[in-house]
Amino acid sequence: MSAPTLLTAGITGLGMSFPEKRLTNADLEKMVETEDAWIVERTGIRERRIVARGVPASHHGALAAQAALAHAGLTAADVDLILVPTVTPDMMFPSTACVIQDLIGAKRAWGYDISAACSGFVFALQAARAQVQTGAVKTALVVGTEVMSSIVDWTDRNTCILFGDGAGAVVVQAVDPALGGIVDAVHYIDGSGGKHLHMKAGGSLNPASEETVRAGMHYIYQEGKEVYRFAVRGMADVALEIVQRNHLTPADIQLLVPHQANIRIMEAAQRRLGLPDEKVAVTIDRFGNTTSASIPSALKVAYDEGRVKKGDHVVLVSFGAGFTWGAALLRWCID
Ligand code: UT7
Repeated sequence: MSAPTLLTAGITGLGMSFPEKRLTNADLEKMVETEDAWIVERTGIRERRIVARGVPASHHGALAAQAALAHAGLTAADVDLILVPTVTPDMMFPSTACVIQDLIGAKRAWGYDISAACSGFVFALQAARAQVQTGAVKTALVVGTEVMSSIVDWTDRNTCILFGDGAGAVVVQAVDPALGGIVDAVHYIDGSGGKHLHMKAGGSLNPASEETVRAGMHYIYQEGKEVYRFAVRGMADVALEIVQRNHLTPADIQLLVPHQANIRIMEAAQRRLGLPDEKVAVTIDRFGNTTSASIPSALKVAYDEGRVKKGDHVVLVSFGAGFTWGAALLRWCID
């Protein structure tokens, strides 16, 4: 029996949605002991977007999903699968994929959430790709959406300066292999890194109680320096790995879209690939770290700026809590 032929999956639509409200470094100077100059120099962030109180992750997720469908010339009726990478789901259950499915009216779709923190988008893209490659689904939506402001301790200057809210979405469908599509993907997890970046309570280990709330255990806990050390190495290594194993050189890469965690971490990956600034997508200055939304929204911004064209090689690369890290190589296949 011969092996079944796999289809080629590619990104055929892009969308994003961000809240209007900007939280600038100057605003943060009034909230914690910090300085605009420190934040810009250490992270590259100038402002981030924050939702109005009570706006859940599904809200901007649904808007980004609708924008991506419109871009692909599709409607919600065409969607077979909705994957939602997020660390800030509307609720523990049902999944935010279910909420978004209902909000956009994707009556035929099934789907689920993916928990891989800042690597969520890259991991979910691979899950969507596999479903499309086998022909199990025709049209998949991958929706990275976060309300990081809901889990940030606004009195902790080590973390509150970093994160922002927003959503980015892509449509994944079968494409003509001659045009390209999603060429390759690499993924890693190392659970021994979990101790450096996590949320202590709200799960089965430490169910929510008066005590956990009082102790601030529902906020992001991060040992910044440790995470930084692993992120610099992990992101640069996996970016180089995917380029080398596809026998490409820096000259063959037109765009690097790193997870927007810290400009210095992103620059380390850029240096390792030997890419000039104009080949790197940077949105951290305006959106901060939006976890699973950062790569699809940075890709969308670069696309809107005309920085990615049919036939271009694009590298997506991530690092996040878990630890999780990974990369995807795309050959851009739409105008
Ligand atoms: O996306 C998921 C993965 N997460 C990441 O990739 C984040 C990785 N970590 C980082 O990006 C960086 O470690 C941070 C941006 C979080 C911190 O930058 P850093 O250069 O590693 O600073 P640091 O933690 O070594 O702190 C240096 C100093 C400390 O003061 P002392 O102890 O030297 O007196 C901090 O208390 O800077 C102080 N500091 C601040 N100062 C002004 C920490 N936060 C602030 C702040 N404003 N907001």
